[in-house]
Amino acid sequence: MKVTFLITLALASFAPAQNAKIEELYHKNCAGCHGANFEGGVGGSLVDGVWNHGSSDEEIYRSIAKGNIPLGMIPWEDTFKPDQIRAFVIFLREQEKKNLSKGQNLPSPSLDQQTKTELENYRLEMVVENGLKDPWAIAFLPDGGRLVTEKSGKLRIISAAGKLDPKAIEGTPQTIEHGQGGLMEVALHPDYAKNGWVYLGLSDGTRAKNDQGKDEVRCITAVVRGKIKNHRWVNQEWIFRADPKFQSGAGVHFGTRFVFDKGYIYFVIGERGGMYEVQDLSRPNGKIHRLHDDGRVPRDNPFVKTKDAMPSIWSYGHRNPQGLAMDARDGALYSTEHGPRGGDELNLILPAHNYGWPVVTLGMHYNGMPMDYNGPDGQKVMSVTQKAGMTPPVTSWVPSIAVCGLDFYTGDKFPKWKNDLLVGALAQKEIRRVRIENKSVVSQETIFKDVGRVRDVAMGPDGFIYVVLNGPDRIMRLVPAQD
Ligand code: HEC
Repeated sequence: MKVTFLITLALASFAPAQNAKIEELYHKNCAGCHGANFEGGVGGSLVDGVWNHGSSDEEIYRSIAKGNIPLGMIPWEDTFKPDQIRAFVIFLREQEKKNLSKGQNLPSPSLDQQTKTELENYRLEMVVENGLKDPWAIAFLPDGGRLVTEKSGKLRIISAAGKLDPKAIEGTPQTIEHGQGGLMEVALHPDYAKNGWVYLGLSDGTRAKNDQGKDEVRCITAVVRGKIKNHRWVNQEWIFRADPKFQSGAGVHFGTRFVFDKGYIYFVIGERGGMYEVQDLSRPNGKIHRLHDDGRVPRDNPFVKTKDAMPSIWSYGHRNPQGLAMDARDGALYSTEHGPRGGDELNLILPAHNYGWPVVTLGMHYNGMPMDYNGPDGQKVMSVTQKAGMTPPVTSWVPSIAVCGLDFYTGDKFPKWKNDLLVGALAQKEIRRVRIENKSVVSQETIFKDVGRVRDVAMGPDGFIYVVLNGPDRIMRLVPAQD
């Protein structure tokens, strides 16, 4: 009786379709039974990690959509659209994570202590403590030195002994520092010792004053190579530079990151705020590209014969991948890609595949509204969580951890981590160790937490794990603990 009454009351008072941010929808419709702080009441706690009716995203979705009338949980599928129910799932996952991480003992290393993880123990060492501003990526020179990019456009050298050269390399290409963009990726050609080529990924474009005297910026990610001689950047050659008509004023989603393999370079251009543009093969944004390492288009690229398609495109439908790495065991290429609020992805990159953004996403808008976009005719379309012909991620993270930087551990200093994927994360300030078998994720573990925002993670030729941190701006490394 009581239950029936409650349901009738709830349905009667909340019935009209609702269009609001997810926080408001929760407080209006759910807090009465599940608590203002999700702690539970008539309905159970939604943040204790205990899910009586199934703990996967799909099961939680079902619990909300179908309800459980005998127990007193209202079916909400007539009140909320599927994308709103999906937004509830993301929102509840965020709250659960926030609550559970309070009591959690994640490995947060400090300099003087050994840090224990499931399989290996490590010590944290400082490589560069001072003098870097917004470091972005690291590459390892054969003499034991390292190259580091700074977002403002500087390419800097750290000596084998660990000293940061106060002077940046002179004559590096001009970059447009704008929002998330600037000088980003740096990598050496696999035959660097012989040919000396250094590759950079940067925001390329123009900054000019408009009629109102305001700065107007137009830019897009580009790839360039050059050599370093006597502390100068020389022999510069552009590898990929989009037509200026593709430049945009947006300060977001530049992508970058390179992988070299068999004479090819794979590189990422983020969606640049273009949303549905990433589904358009005549545009460079929201794509992973493949070129010969001198910039020529490989004749067997998947879209070379497609009318109006850019021939460098290898895969498309990407939002903002900022991790790219190849599994040495089987040559499989992986990317980590920033989702919006919810739905960060690990993708297995296959030629011609469409990874779905913004048609498919597991996330929602930052303001708590379900994800939507302007479709091909400019009409508003709601995103969905899966769609035939669009490749789903290998795994995803809800809530988002803000994936950035990716490398396979192939060294011998941490033998139990051999061939594991190291996934950096900015917002969650962590490194995840992800075990991949037969192209599937079999387990994952946070091995590094709360030292700073992880911008890049890379194994050095010495087998140590280098971490490029923002806030504070530092480079540190993980070395095996003695015992
Ligand atoms: C009238 C009270 C009531 C309202 C309103 C209500 N719920 Fe529930 N909810 C319940 C009850 C009762 C259960 C079953 C609890 C149990 O089995 O422990 C439940 C279960 C759930 C579950 C499954 C929990 C589990 O452990 O698996 C989810 C998820 C959930 N509710 C979400 C929501 C959301 C989201 C809203 C708002 C849109 C909402 N509920 C509104 C009463 C309510």
